Amino acid sequence: MKNNIINLKVAITSDHAGFELKQKIRSQLEGLGIHILDLGADSSDPVDYPDYGRAMAEHITSGQIDRGIALCGTGIGISISANRFKGVRAALCHNVTTATQARMHNDANILAIGARHTNFEDALKCIDAFLNTGFEGNRHARRIAKIDEKFSLSQKNDYISEDKELSQALANELKRQQNTVELIASENFTSITTMNYQGSVLTNKYAEGYPGKRYYGGCEFVDVIENLAIERLKDLYSCKWANVQPNSGSQANQAVFLALLKPGDTILGMSLSAGGHLTHGAIPNQSGKYFNSIFYGVRKEDGIIDYAEVRKLAKKYRPKLIIAGASAYSSKIDFKLFKEISKEIDAYLLVDMAHYSGLIAGKCYPDPLPFADVCTSTTHKTLRGPRGGIILSNNEELGKKIDKAVFPGLQGGPLMHVIAAKASAFKEANTESFKNYSKQTIKNAKALCTALIKKGFDIVSGGTDCHMVLIDLERKKVTGKEAEESLDRGGITCNKNSVPFDKQSPFVTSGIRVGTAAGTTRGFKEDQFEFIAECISKIIDALTTKNKEVINNVETEVLEDIKELCKKFPIYQ
Ligand SMILES: Cc1ncc(COP(=O)(O)O)c(C=O)c1O
Repeated sequence: MKNNIINLKVAITSDHAGFELKQKIRSQLEGLGIHILDLGADSSDPVDYPDYGRAMAEHITSGQIDRGIALCGTGIGISISANRFKGVRAALCHNVTTATQARMHNDANILAIGARHTNFEDALKCIDAFLNTGFEGNRHARRIAKIDEKFSLSQKNDYISEDKELSQALANELKRQQNTVELIASENFTSITTMNYQGSVLTNKYAEGYPGKRYYGGCEFVDVIENLAIERLKDLYSCKWANVQPNSGSQANQAVFLALLKPGDTILGMSLSAGGHLTHGAIPNQSGKYFNSIFYGVRKEDGIIDYAEVRKLAKKYRPKLIIAGASAYSSKIDFKLFKEISKEIDAYLLVDMAHYSGLIAGKCYPDPLPFADVCTSTTHKTLRGPRGGIILSNNEELGKKIDKAVFPGLQGGPLMHVIAAKASAFKEANTESFKNYSKQTIKNAKALCTALIKKGFDIVSGGTDCHMVLIDLERKKVTGKEAEESLDRGGITCNKNSVPFDKQSPFVTSGIRVGTAAGTTRGFKEDQFEFIAECISKIIDALTTKNKEVINNVETEVLEDIKELCKKFPIYQ
């Protein structure tokens, strides 16, 4: 055996069938001065090979060792077990040729040996070849990369791989998310842990009611889960009451309306065209049909909420409920002032913090809870949890009413798998690392905004205090629709958005809304967002030429750049 392997960190393992050969190999290698870590088994008493294959795989994937030697009766079981782990390449070899090729072409990091079919001398020759042969790289490196790519896709799609049409669409969506820059301000990439809770057996459980007061049996464990979600959420926002059952942000708002209003009551919300949400009284929405909705907007001169108008409308129409919160508004909202106005007319204040809730949890955006009678939110935007809704308050009496409105008022069985995923996300959000993430999200939005302004773009309200930036394209004579579609072809996903006082219809619009929450999750910092601003600028400039060939060429060029960028910041791999 040659000497250049002395520096390699090597481990050996076996089940009972490989034990005897393992011991002989180990003492031979140690006699040659090669230090070898023995991961067991410790005797020839029957054991299960998957346990030893796994132990070896974990030592490889954690970087504790460079190479492993794994033995069982045929070598098959232990190699299959080890190969379940990403980054492991266990090769079952029986002679020098196969062991050499396994290294040269497959960059094998575990040599599997069938102890019942390989004698000591042949095993030593295999090991010598395995430890002394280098990887050739080049085309083989490309193929090795494909093994892990395939692995990461199949890991998530294993259980539905028989359903080819569905699993293919899912694999395509994963690839789309991996290879494009996600700028939709209301999206994010949730953690694998949170996703696993959502895809769990909890989806089977009916649990109408609340913990300890269910209309179904067998709820003892889902009670634990819902209580955990509630307590974690209350802790996250330091509030007294929370409901984690709303299926979405819209249903959270509906539940508040059901609890506090009667059909025909007046509500005052931000107009859709100024950046408000459909559920804040917009005419096509149930909130606009069941209630007498009136709207405030933003000031023409600076795009900031027109608080004087809010007060004037409040005094004139005396709404029972005022809604603060928006879908496309990037400056800080003055929740204290909203509370003062609501108090003046004895109205409830609802803060829909759907967009800002993650930033509020991360302590880098004003906290509405000290001022609002009730707060609603989605859980999937800056908060980075599963799709869903929540309701919070410091008023426990109001909370009791809202509990009844959620169930039985509005919903049936709660989505317990989503509630578990929410609980997981709330825990993640209550960490230093989430605070840092939220801070970086805002820093990134400011960097993106500054870079866009430098490139000559008009930004609604002139800047941003959160994760989103609203770009006004009117002066560029490009519509939001054109921009959204062209950016999409260039690998950048965003959405067209009305800008205040927009002359275009909501289907066309004069603006786009971009956000940094998802990109920050994949690790983008200011440099990457400045680069993204450059890509956006290239595409919008091309659109201003109205020349199809120019537009196509720029889209293709940007698409390549974006793919390169995404490769450096992988998700779910
Ligand atoms: C401010 C605001 N409220 C409510 C919602 C509705 O959330 P969902 O889509 O979960 O119904 C949204 C969604 O974008 C939103 O931005």
